[in-house]
Amino acid sequence: MRTLLIAGNWKMNGSLALVDAFARAFASVKLPARVEVALMVPFPYLGVAAETFQETPLTVGAQTLSDRSSGAFTGEVSGAMLVDVGARLVLVGHSERRSLFGEDDAAVLARVQAALEHGLRPVLCLGETLEEREAGRTESVVIGQLAAVCDALDPAERARLVLAYEPVWAIGTGRTASPEQAQAVHSAIRGRLAAYSPALAEGMQILYGGSMKAANAGELLAQPDIDGGLVGGAALQVDDFLAICQSAG
Ligand code: 13P
Repeated sequence: MRTLLIAGNWKMNGSLALVDAFARAFASVKLPARVEVALMVPFPYLGVAAETFQETPLTVGAQTLSDRSSGAFTGEVSGAMLVDVGARLVLVGHSERRSLFGEDDAAVLARVQAALEHGLRPVLCLGETLEEREAGRTESVVIGQLAAVCDALDPAERARLVLAYEPVWAIGTGRTASPEQAQAVHSAIRGRLAAYSPALAEGMQILYGGSMKAANAGELLAQPDIDGGLVGGAALQVDDFLAICQSAG
């Protein structure tokens, strides 16, 4: 039985006060069995979040990392630094990184490899645009993004990934994929993983992201191949995020 992971992605939002509000709310919360919760916070809040969340079930993650280990790369943050301040997970290949910051498949692979090298769990994001969906290319795009990374990893490395299917047209739009639409893509992803190894396919956590909120989380998380959520807007309100975590039981 796979564990469910609910991960909040604050993007370029949040504050020290919000870190504190999450720490207080989650200190006394009883989560359903089989549910893990993580918050991907902006770089400046990582260290304090890791410390403040120690008495809570919350794990801390970053939203990106450099593909280099150290050196003269002004403004970049390495995997080693993320580990140093207590991050355990890192998003890689989020559609905003791909579309706004020019990260192509090669750049995504390099960041996954950097994360693995430093002992971080990469949460590899995959997803098609509306245009690609309407052209009937959803599966080929998503599987192409998956293969661009997984083909280059060895089996032990593949097993350390978490995947997140985030249809670009559902991110921040209020337009969620239906449970059937999401399940169909998750099932295709798991099918492709089985070509590497049935055990990999069976064990892989595949999260859904894109306008997930308390009102739709339950039916999405009830799908057989959806193993959690990657939550943007609704992860900025403690009560909304807690409600999603509770609905994962
Ligand atoms: P929203 O939940 O705001 O649609 O964002 C999803 C997302 O991009 C999480 O990484």
